[in-house]
Amino acid sequence: MSTGESTAVVVGGASGIGLATVRALLAEDHRVVLADVNAEGAQRIAAELGDRVTPAVLDVTDEASVAAVFEAAAGARTVVNCAGLSLPGPIVDLELSNWRTTVDVCLTGTFLVLKHAGRHVADGASIVCIASLNGRQPGTGLAGYCAAKAGVLMLVEVAALELAERGIRVNAISPGLVDTPLVAGISLVPGLTAEYLENTPLRRSGRAEEIADAAVYLSSPKAGWMTGSTLDLNGGAHLRRYPDVLARVRAMAEPPA
Ligand SMILES: NC(=O)c1ccc[n+]([C@@H]2O[C@H](COP(=O)([O-])OP(=O)(O)OC[C@H]3O[C@@H](n4cnc5c(N)ncnc54)[C@H](O)[C@@H]3O)[C@@H](O)[C@H]2O)c1
Repeated sequence: MSTGESTAVVVGGASGIGLATVRALLAEDHRVVLADVNAEGAQRIAAELGDRVTPAVLDVTDEASVAAVFEAAAGARTVVNCAGLSLPGPIVDLELSNWRTTVDVCLTGTFLVLKHAGRHVADGASIVCIASLNGRQPGTGLAGYCAAKAGVLMLVEVAALELAERGIRVNAISPGLVDTPLVAGISLVPGLTAEYLENTPLRRSGRAEEIADAAVYLSSPKAGWMTGSTLDLNGGAHLRRYPDVLARVRAMAEPPA
């Protein structure tokens, strides 16, 4: 595996925002370790993108696999953690296992990435964690995801304090709705995307490349005085309210009489 001053590790790099971040970092002349639980995807994409991309398999909920990736990439100067998922449902019906999976991947996974990246990155490195608009804006049916992402925002602040003595900067990006496989289900719920966009001043969803560009900026010397911060990238959606996801899902299940 390539290591050195320009190595970046993108966790969750096989899809969506992570894949766009891999491409954006390559364009900035980084070598990239593309780490994902999706081994086939990581290997296929790395083969497509060329020999400056090294695939790695890791599950952010499995400490040994997270540790192994960061040990192998010791000295990396850039880490972007994009791994995430959401298993939705109303609190009163939400299976504990679904709550745990969401919190494990989004929150505990971020902790494990910070722990092992923090041990092995170079002094002066940058770590970026992809949080969410839902870290500050509640959405019905999204209890585990909202709670986990709110936790990520605080975790980033604590990590920024602890790692500052080595010059390591830790920041978060909180995207609003971005067109990726993660949110493909939203378009299946009538009216949900429209309600979201009505509450987005700039009236559109985001592109993965826009989040990737922000991750590149945060990882660059241009953001050298920025740590413990969150970039809200959502077309202004944080200024209004989140759509009522459960009401839309229930309306779909119970057509009007
Ligand atoms: N798409 C959006 O609208 C949106 C909005 C806000 C925040 N986010 C956040 O952005 C991040 C990227 O999401 P995306 O939209 O690109 O989703 P995505 O589903 O396209 O990509 C997520 C990637 O994470 C990987 N992953 C999932 N579980 C993992 C695990 N246990 N270990 C390692 N890798 C794992 C997946 O294999 C996939 O490659 C997530 O943290 C998500 O919560 C997305």
